[in-house]
Amino acid sequence: MTDFALEVRDLYAGYEGVPVLHGISFEVKEGEIVAIVGANGAGKTTTLRTVSGLLRPKSGFVKFYGEDVTGLPAHVMVRKGLTYVPEGRRIFGKLSVKENLELGAFKEENREVVEQRLEWVCSLFPILKERLNQKAETMSGGEQQMLAIARGLMSAPKVILLDELSLGLQPSLVEKVLQIVTEIRRYGVTVLLVEQRVLEALEIADKGYVIQSGRVVMSGSSKDLLESEEIKRAYLGM
Ligand SMILES: Nc1ncnc2c1ncn2[C@@H]1O[C@H](COP(=O)(O)OP(=O)(O)O)[C@@H](O)[C@H]1O
Ligand SMILES: [Mg+2]
Repeated sequence: MTDFALEVRDLYAGYEGVPVLHGISFEVKEGEIVAIVGANGAGKTTTLRTVSGLLRPKSGFVKFYGEDVTGLPAHVMVRKGLTYVPEGRRIFGKLSVKENLELGAFKEENREVVEQRLEWVCSLFPILKERLNQKAETMSGGEQQMLAIARGLMSAPKVILLDELSLGLQPSLVEKVLQIVTEIRRYGVTVLLVEQRVLEALEIADKGYVIQSGRVVMSGSSKDLLESEEIKRAYLGM
């Protein structure tokens, strides 16, 4: 039996012959919050797309609880318990909050189970409970981001991949949304998140990987990374 919920080794991937990832490796233990941080264009989204099955790697492997899942399509990964919450929220504005949430549980046919999950995500995000019948587009950016996370949780994932939650949110909301991630973990969901907001991400993560031009250039406990002179200089503007 493996110790890792997710183990990624030497991943190479890109778009139509344009290489983006040049041998990315990392691992996530069950119950951890792991952050992949790096500047815009570093390859964070490409990494999550490859792990979640939206993009096939050129080489390398992805193991999910010890099982080789490299190249399996995204809907199969969702069924196995790995769900990707994409960058930019991608909610359906014309649909109600409730309808958006139900779409996250598309693979679940038991209505009772769907209702239980609705209750669960509404307890995590009380604001959504008040807005269930409202069109999603009428909510603020922060609320829409919460909806996107909640929709991902509706598939009851073992591991959730969160792409740039802070994007487009005002500073006061960034910490609030990231705090929710620590609550998600308390329900036993393992979290892999990617962020340009290096400081905020490392503050809630156990461990971090810094990527640059498709390569891991530094990794360690969040505490060590936050204290590193190199990180302070390059990413925290200190
Ligand atoms: N669909 C695409 N087609 C071609 N190149 C892409 C595509 N998506 C991203 N890229 C390129 O891949 C690189 C990494 O992008 P991305 O993974 O989105 O970085 P990040 O999420 O860290 O900002 C960038 O140079 C970007 O221009
Ligand atoms: Mg990105």
